[in-house]
Amino acid sequence: MQLWKGRFKKELSKTTNDFNSSISFDSRMFREDIEGSIAHATMLGRCGIIKTTEAGRIVQGLKEILSDIESGKLTFDPDAEDIHTFIEGELTERIGDDGKRLHTSRSRNDQVAVDIKLYLKKEVVNVRELLEELVKVIADKAEQYSDTVMPGYTHLQRAQPITFGHHLLAYAEMFLRDISRLDDCLKRMDEMPLGSCALAGTTYPINREITKELLGFDRVTNNSLDGVSDRDYCIEFSSVLSIIMVHLSRFSEEIIMWCSWEFKFIELDDAFSTGSSIMPQKKNPDIAELVRGKSGRVFGDTMTLLTVMKGIALAYNKDMQEDKEAIFDAVDTVKMCLTAFTPMLDTMRVIPENMRKAAAGGFINATDVADWLTKNGVPFRDAYKATGELVARCIELGTDLESLPLDEYKKVCNVFTDDVYNAISLEYCVSQRTAFGGPAPENVKAQAERVKNLVNKD
Ligand code: ARG
Repeated sequence: MQLWKGRFKKELSKTTNDFNSSISFDSRMFREDIEGSIAHATMLGRCGIIKTTEAGRIVQGLKEILSDIESGKLTFDPDAEDIHTFIEGELTERIGDDGKRLHTSRSRNDQVAVDIKLYLKKEVVNVRELLEELVKVIADKAEQYSDTVMPGYTHLQRAQPITFGHHLLAYAEMFLRDISRLDDCLKRMDEMPLGSCALAGTTYPINREITKELLGFDRVTNNSLDGVSDRDYCIEFSSVLSIIMVHLSRFSEEIIMWCSWEFKFIELDDAFSTGSSIMPQKKNPDIAELVRGKSGRVFGDTMTLLTVMKGIALAYNKDMQEDKEAIFDAVDTVKMCLTAFTPMLDTMRVIPENMRKAAAGGFINATDVADWLTKNGVPFRDAYKATGELVARCIELGTDLESLPLDEYKKVCNVFTDDVYNAISLEYCVSQRTAFGGPAPENVKAQAERVKNLVNKD
């Protein structure tokens, strides 16, 4: 069934119909489509554009369709052009001529826009909730491992000692920013496009405020052309989802490294690992690898949306039907990744001894030796050079800064005293890094608390 039959003499060919149809993917918006139509019919009735009795029968019919779809009594016709056509056709079949009045002062162009917005507004909230769950798990773990010493890296080379809790909280910051990006995105998305009609608004005395109120939008769109041709909300949401995937993917990469035998900082729970069909000893971090890999899909979805939109003249063009598969895939993928990732993180076993052991190698406290000299009056640049010489001496002697005898220290710089050994113990090094934003255990505890309060407040 097509809504636009009158002008045409021939039936659409089967292949054209299949090519043109979007019901296989837009049927997931059936609730939003019905919700939008109920609000529209109610508004038409209240404004006297159709009779209130007609509006009442339309609303009743739509409600019945909704419950029949939900119960499985009514299934989608795969040959329908789209979800809008299907529901309007079904309504008219059920209630007759009144059904034909529903589309007064409306177009599928503003209809599809309101459907997607209603659908995505809910999904933004769903993704936000999943992110909050993840941040809670991160904050709990950070608290638990606030004084666990581990190597901090730059260039994947051991750099300076930090705490595991501090490392984890870096990810909490990323995901908190993502949450605020979602909030921003939701604010901009919260504009009701119905009433834009095909492109040029309408001559009927509609009241868009009524529809807006009924559908729970913050405001109405200001320009009818923009109302039907804007897909910024898809692009913006997908962009935020892409950034979430960047963060999840980096975290996954670290988890994959950390559970290798070379690091062995953590072990993933059996429930979140897989084996090999040939190598009996293997325990693989497939979940983290899949999350890392799926980032590519979401970036691709964002690129699809940008490319679909970049060259189309105002207002609606059928290219825009391509928006849905991309944004739905991005949303589904991120939700799936978060659903798998959070419990994987929650159940991992942390191995502090191995982190400590790794931190004890690689002259990770060299900066602290230089800082000790600086605090004892040596200019930093000279202290830096002297410490470099000490590291070279350690390498020659096959030892480390903790075990290098004091006379070797004195040979390089006679300011050194016995005190230097306390100042370069790893625990001491991290405990002194109390400047705001640093890895000292007391900072980590305070930050974990702050993060928890942020995600528990709503
Ligand atoms: N299925 C279409 C879409 O997703 C609905 C809008 C159709 N509008 C039109 N003028 N053909 O974009």
